[in-house]
Amino acid sequence: MAKLTFHGHSTFSIETGDGTRIVVDPWFTGNPMADIAAEDLEDLDYVFCTHGHEDHIVDAFPLVRRTGATLVSTFEIVMFAGSQGIEGGHPMHIGGGWDFPFGRVQMTPALHGGQVHGDESGQWTTVPGGFLFELDGTRVYHAGDTALLTDMQLLKGRVDVALLPIGDNFTMGPEEAVRAIEFIEPKVVVPIHYDTFELIEQDTDAFVEKVGSRARVEVMKAGDTMDLG
Ligand code: NI
Ligand code: MN
Repeated sequence: MAKLTFHGHSTFSIETGDGTRIVVDPWFTGNPMADIAAEDLEDLDYVFCTHGHEDHIVDAFPLVRRTGATLVSTFEIVMFAGSQGIEGGHPMHIGGGWDFPFGRVQMTPALHGGQVHGDESGQWTTVPGGFLFELDGTRVYHAGDTALLTDMQLLKGRVDVALLPIGDNFTMGPEEAVRAIEFIEPKVVVPIHYDTFELIEQDTDAFVEKVGSRARVEVMKAGDTMDLG
């Protein structure tokens, strides 16, 4: 059975039933919510990045360099990594899926900014995305940073656990996250991308109340682990 651990903001680590170790949107260095440092992660197999903003990618390249993990992200981000000496990444793009040894992953659309942190040339601007993971029979949707999208209706019936931004200002806020839940109909929702900065402070109790019976909301604190399935 796969396990999902929250590290604050949008950062998660996943360990699948077959022992594959994954980190998604690694931001440990300078993350006021993080429970561990990037250095605490060992033996990583994959690093997934939804988009290029600093708060989703800042520890990705150092983690890949140190652990030999495979970087998985948009074509542009993987090419940028290549220009920084990181070869062997797995490029994907919106709408495409791939059967990794641990399970299938599809990239989903997100509506957000495309800047890539560290790309001084501005050459590798990308389209941000999200990921839909199939992990030992449980489907986990990491929405990345996004506005509410009507396209989320296409995920209806395809998501067990939805990791949804609720911070407002840079992404969906709580009201839109409730509409996203109506579109997707996940069993479980984990709010992400809130409280890290003043601009995205939110009241999770009020969010749980707003969601009501639409889904079970799991408010994870950094360091919390959830068994999937
Ligand atoms: Ni962002
Ligand atoms: Mn962000």
